[in-house]
Amino acid sequence: MGKIILTGDRPTGRLHVGHYVGSLKRRVELQNSGEYDKIFIMIADAQALTDNADNPEKVRQNIIEVALDYLSCGLDPAKSTLFIQSQIQELAELSFYYMNLVTVSRLQRNPTVKAEIQMRNFETSIPVGFFTYPISQAADITAFKATTVPVGEDQLPMIEQCREIVRKFNFVYGDTLVEPEALIPQNEVCCRLPGTDGRAKMSKSLGNCIYLSDSADEVRTKVMSMFTDPNHLKITDPGSLEGNTVFTYLDAFSRPEHFERYLPEYANLDELKGHYQRGGLGDVKVKKFLNAIMQEELEPIRNRRKELERQIPDIYEILKKGSEVAREEAAATVAEVKAAMRINYFEDAALIAEQADRYAAGTENALSCKIKCDKG
Ligand code: TRP
Repeated sequence: MGKIILTGDRPTGRLHVGHYVGSLKRRVELQNSGEYDKIFIMIADAQALTDNADNPEKVRQNIIEVALDYLSCGLDPAKSTLFIQSQIQELAELSFYYMNLVTVSRLQRNPTVKAEIQMRNFETSIPVGFFTYPISQAADITAFKATTVPVGEDQLPMIEQCREIVRKFNFVYGDTLVEPEALIPQNEVCCRLPGTDGRAKMSKSLGNCIYLSDSADEVRTKVMSMFTDPNHLKITDPGSLEGNTVFTYLDAFSRPEHFERYLPEYANLDELKGHYQRGGLGDVKVKKFLNAIMQEELEPIRNRRKELERQIPDIYEILKKGSEVAREEAAATVAEVKAAMRINYFEDAALIAEQADRYAAGTENALSCKIKCDKG
């Protein structure tokens, strides 16, 4: 069996550096490792609609933003199939069958769904589509027989629920689906990069994100106004690293060679942290260092994006082609699923012959009684 990747993002806004360190960067590395037979990267517009039903325009506008972010980070349509979820109707079909394998109480226990319901103040008015999106996400993954799903840590409950659906399906209908593994960032801070204001989550509405598409000036301004230690008033004061966003970002972005290049007086991040904690190291110096690193990382992405922004129709064409490829894959899986569930009636010659025989022998009533009796 080959190694297959599927992952994706909801198109509800431009992608930010949290997406980058949490998932995008790794995807590009995996893509270029040559270790995977197939790679599918999905713009999850149908899932985005589960909590944006009244705002389809937001989803529609952001598809190209996400595609631009993907391509500028180095996802390559020659190596990865980039596609749009809603164009693959087979995903809805699979979801419909998987719904029979999942209980309401199991969905209610899904920690990600629980947290998201709270975050959106949905408590008393949860859209059914939103509530059941873990099922549709299982369809996304299994339609492509994905073995590997690179995601942020918050998605682990989704992958677990998908694995349960796969096991249940295979148990009931016979071995058909592939149980996927999640691949989360190796570096713990990359799992949840905080907002520039120190809040736990980056969110567009809080205005605390650094976007991949931000200009050099925007990045600098955001870095220089990042939340640090509010008690570190004078340079000579000892500073705290706890909840200090600048240092969290350094944990995520800095590498040893950055010190050689920009701060040769320190051997590594531990030395820099030590000095900050002892006192005598000012926030501005640390922020300037972080800014230099982030500019270095983001500049090539930004430049590629500028180029790609001049080729919008070509990018839609890439997504269209990708969606065609993805659809073929998903259709093959649906055919297997229907065969396993024995609902492929018109390809089931044995079924047709059996029914014809029953009627020919005049035993049709006996049999229909048998089905009723078996059911109890
Ligand atoms: N839930 C993911 C997110 O919010 C997006 C997504 C949809 C996804 N379907 C997927 C991720 C399948 C991995 C696999 O970012």
